[in-house]
Amino acid sequence: MAGKFIITLLVVAVLAAALQCSVAQRTHVVGDSLGWTIPPGGAVAYTTWAASQTFTVGDVLLFNFTTGSHDVAQVSRTSFDGCNSASPISLVRNGPANVTLNTTGEHYYICTFSGHCNAGMKLAINVSAAPSTSPPPQSPVPAPSPSSTTPKTYVVGDSLGWTVPPGGSIAYRTWAAGKTFMVGDILVFNFTTGADDVAVVTSKAAYDSCNTSATGTTINTGPARITLTTAGEHFYICTIPRHCSLGQKLAINVTGTAATPSPTPAPTRPPSGPASAPAPSSTGATPPSSSSTPPPSGSPSTSPSGSTTPSPSGSTTPSPSGSPGGVSAPPPPNSAPSFAVAALPFTFLSIALAFLY
Ligand SMILES: *[C@@H]1O[C@H](CO)[C@@H](O)[C@H](O)[C@H]1NC(C)=O
Ligand SMILES: *[C@@H]1O[C@H](CO)[C@@H](O)[C@H](O)[C@H]1NC(C)=O
Ligand SMILES: *[C@@H]1O[C@H](CO)[C@@H](O)[C@H](O)[C@H]1NC(C)=O
Ligand SMILES: *[C@@H]1O[C@H](CO)[C@@H](O)[C@H](O)[C@H]1NC(C)=O
Ligand SMILES: *[C@@H]1O[C@H](CO)[C@@H](O)[C@H](O)[C@H]1NC(C)=O
Ligand SMILES: *[C@@H]1O[C@H](CO)[C@@H](O)[C@H](O)[C@H]1NC(C)=O
Ligand SMILES: *[C@@H]1O[C@H](CO)[C@@H](O)[C@H](O)[C@H]1NC(C)=O
Repeated sequence: MAGKFIITLLVVAVLAAALQCSVAQRTHVVGDSLGWTIPPGGAVAYTTWAASQTFTVGDVLLFNFTTGSHDVAQVSRTSFDGCNSASPISLVRNGPANVTLNTTGEHYYICTFSGHCNAGMKLAINVSAAPSTSPPPQSPVPAPSPSSTTPKTYVVGDSLGWTVPPGGSIAYRTWAAGKTFMVGDILVFNFTTGADDVAVVTSKAAYDSCNTSATGTTINTGPARITLTTAGEHFYICTIPRHCSLGQKLAINVTGTAATPSPTPAPTRPPSGPASAPAPSSTGATPPSSSSTPPPSGSPSTSPSGSTTPSPSGSTTPSPSGSPGGVSAPPPPNSAPSFAVAALPFTFLSIALAFLY
């Protein structure tokens, strides 16, 4: 009996440690694989990278650079705007450098090597206070709110537009990373007609290999507007020779509008208006799956027990024969992962206790 009690205590201790870990500091590798260098496409690389991150007091910025080639200085906003390295707040000459974010608010970093900042080697971030309560650590993903049901228009790459990204495909990966795409949202691929195009590719394999023979709809006139009509993964490439392999490719995950974990349906949720509303300027850019109706909101939650998790024993899944490439499988709702993560320790605890007693 005493042994079981001790094991129970251990289980609780492990769970407590797990919760601690989930709120501990995170390390952000500045620019991801690009590192801290002169970004080939200018400052937009670090702007899009920063937009994909959430910075909290206690987090660490890892500036990955070679000592002697670059450095990293924290500067005032004025110095950041003017690329003035005369009086930095702090300066680290040895790379890679870990910088702990000790204060909230805006932080500005530049490289003080001549010309580097002006060429785009500058980073501005906004640090928020550490969450004071530990229980719900997973909430960078915005909870379902009225705004999340309003269709959004995204300009792919923001000011970069849709072009061969100078830094490679990291540009569109970082651009997409922080965003939640919903059925009904619109992607604007801003390119110059003749210089680029945009094609829907129907499989991840074709996307990965830049197979321009496996494309669906191709739009040659820019800017192109594409309305997201189905949930799941969507892949876009440019079919101009070598553009895709040079990084002009975008992969996104689209969440269905009905993806709310709460058992009570939100009364304010409109029945996915954009699918029925005429989109006059979409230039016929509907993805190949010709579903004119919004995705079946009831399909993931048809289990009689009312649980929001889709049953793993594939019962009667509605066969979406219309959409090729298997892109029509609705992914778990956006908030499901955090729900699952939150539920996991308690499931684990129950199982452990069931074994013990
Ligand atoms: C830093 O950059 C080097 C060289 O590009 C790379 O090998 C290394 O994995 C990077 N480190 C991190 C933490 O990203
Ligand atoms: C920076 O932080 C990373 C991750 O926490 C760690 O692996 C690395 O050793 C640190 N580097 C330095 C120079 O402190
Ligand atoms: C943040 O705090 C740590 C520990 O007190 C300190 O070593 C470090 O220099 C501080 N970093 C900055 C950027 O002020
Ligand atoms: C940082 O956040 C504050 C308050 O939310 C905002 O006013 C400011 O514009 C932000 N700065 C940056 C660089 O995003
Ligand atoms: C598209 O790019 C052009 C040229 O870079 C720019 O003037 C225009 O504002 C962009 N349009 C959008 C919707 O971002
Ligand atoms: C490209 O896609 C086409 C059509 O799906 C296929 O026939 C071809 O084998 C693919 N090529 C490569 C190299 O995967
Ligand atoms: C989409 O989500 C699935 C499941 O979470 C993930 O495996 C996949 O990598 C995601 N794809 C993209 C393009 O983000």
